[in-house]
Amino acid sequence: MRNLVPSLALGGLILFAGAQEMPAQADMSEAGKKALSTAGQVMFDRRCRSCHADDPGKRSYGPSLIGVIGRKAGSLTGYEYSDALKNSGLVWNEALLRAWITDNDGLMPGTRMRHVSITDNSEQDFLLAFLKELSEKE
Ligand code: HEC
Repeated sequence: MRNLVPSLALGGLILFAGAQEMPAQADMSEAGKKALSTAGQVMFDRRCRSCHADDPGKRSYGPSLIGVIGRKAGSLTGYEYSDALKNSGLVWNEALLRAWITDNDGLMPGTRMRHVSITDNSEQDFLLAFLKELSEKE
């Protein structure tokens, strides 16, 4: 019973976040996609890079985000995750990453990542585009 409430809240968040997936990029030109991802890099530089390198050869305070989309949360070998992240059973997808950057410790109480709150939809789109690019880089 103790675990039921947070998991219901989490389920609701995922459904809610899933309803606002990335706008379809099917019509976007290569130039547009590049612009989106460059904007995402600016966001990443300002909000994430101090703790997350985008170079797998570099050690940083947070885990590498290369290949993060589709990866089981808390699963990089050699990184000491919090129990909350390690045992979450989540697999990172767009909707979850949106929920994470909106309110990471609300989504997952007990995480060691400092509170991040990026609530602007466009800023989320930018970051997601960049995280996608990092995931394709693997
Ligand atoms: C102050 C440092 C810090 C900042 C800033 C930060 N993170 Fe983190 N991040 C961490 C730490 C530490 C962890 C591991 C947390 C844990 O084990 O609970 C983490 C974990 C993550 C994970 C889970 C990775 C996995 O392997 O499961 C994702 C995704 C993530 N961060 C994304 C981001 C994004 C995107 C940003 C920028 C918007 C960001 N983080 C900003 C420190 C940070």
